[in-house]
Amino acid sequence: MAREVVLQPLAYSLSEFTLDTAYTARELSKSQADLSVAVARGFKINIPFLSAAMQAVTGPELAAELARCGGLGVIYCSQPILSEAEMVRRVKAAPPNADNYSYPFKTLLDAQGRLVVGAAINTKDYAERVPALAEAGVDILFVDSSHGNTDYQKETIQFVKQNYPLVPIVGGNIINSDGVNNLIGWGADGVKVGMGIGSICITTDVKATGKGQASAVMECSATRDKLPEWAPVIADGGIGTAREMCIALAIGADAIMLGKYFARLEEAPGNKISRDDFLRMYPATNGKLDPSIEYLKEYWGEGSLRARIHQEAQYRYGQNEFAEGVDGYTEYAGPLKENLSRTLAKIIKSMHDAGANSISELHEKAIVRLASARSMNEVGVHDLISYKKVSLS
Ligand code: IMP
Repeated sequence: MAREVVLQPLAYSLSEFTLDTAYTARELSKSQADLSVAVARGFKINIPFLSAAMQAVTGPELAAELARCGGLGVIYCSQPILSEAEMVRRVKAAPPNADNYSYPFKTLLDAQGRLVVGAAINTKDYAERVPALAEAGVDILFVDSSHGNTDYQKETIQFVKQNYPLVPIVGGNIINSDGVNNLIGWGADGVKVGMGIGSICITTDVKATGKGQASAVMECSATRDKLPEWAPVIADGGIGTAREMCIALAIGADAIMLGKYFARLEEAPGNKISRDDFLRMYPATNGKLDPSIEYLKEYWGEGSLRARIHQEAQYRYGQNEFAEGVDGYTEYAGPLKENLSRTLAKIIKSMHDAGANSISELHEKAIVRLASARSMNEVGVHDLISYKKVSLS
């Protein structure tokens, strides 16, 4: 028998919950919501969005544009040290206001007026990687591991704390209380939660480890709430729609890290291909591809075979013998700024409906409910013969 077999409660995903409404005063619905959050102790960003440290997601172009919109890009570490440091440098040297057009939220700038950027590190070459990233001007570090509750992570966090005490470090990924207590105990300034639930992820499928994201975030944020010194929780993976974002934030995440959401955008590093080219490459998908899709964008996991063009990619998973991610496509969705504005509008409206005007107020006030499968049937369009698809972003 296992030490414990948990039959109840089941592990839940974010899409199984709904957010209750509360009294919304007129002033609240008219006021500008405060979306600023800490992603590490003493380190705030202006909107609760981080882009995933992935080859298909966070290159310098996307990181710079996200910082202009108030969020934080995390450059991937599945590449040689010098090229990661160069990407950090490129963000720090990018104009804060490209083309002088207006941005919906306050741009995320450092004390010298440069765009803020994060970078991922692994638990193998940190002694060389961290100095190079610090030299390039990185603002915050993230340990990139699918299973962060390990001695390797402890050594990595302690190295950064001892040698670069001014650079905040977020540990992860973890999915339970033990992970929170260990990472924070080792000195992490924040934790990242999620395993087995990313849209390109096959981790749980191939080796069983993982947990429904809602359950992981609830357990980790409840444990965090009991810490003697508060630290942020970032929900990472399995968050694609504004609805899932609202639930992740309501149940206790301070911020969300997104892969697929950003991979679909113009600024993401993957190639954009037309419907015709796609169908030429994959004729078997003809007839199955949604007729409204004109362009697609490549999206591959850090644990996919494709990511392993650089040997550093294996460090996230601690092995190089089998894949834990796939290599695929998403629907192309256009420029970041447009998509993010629409998504933020949905999140603010949802917060106001729940009577909250900031993420911390949302944590205090939110009443989140597990919905029955039958009631979830009615969340999507139902009982119509035909309708026009609306954007989900
Ligand atoms: P998404 O937002 O659902 O696409 O998930 C993105 C997250 O999935 C990343 O931030 C990582 O934590 C995780 N991830 C990235 N690559 C892989 C992979 O190849 N396998 C499993 N998880 C991955």
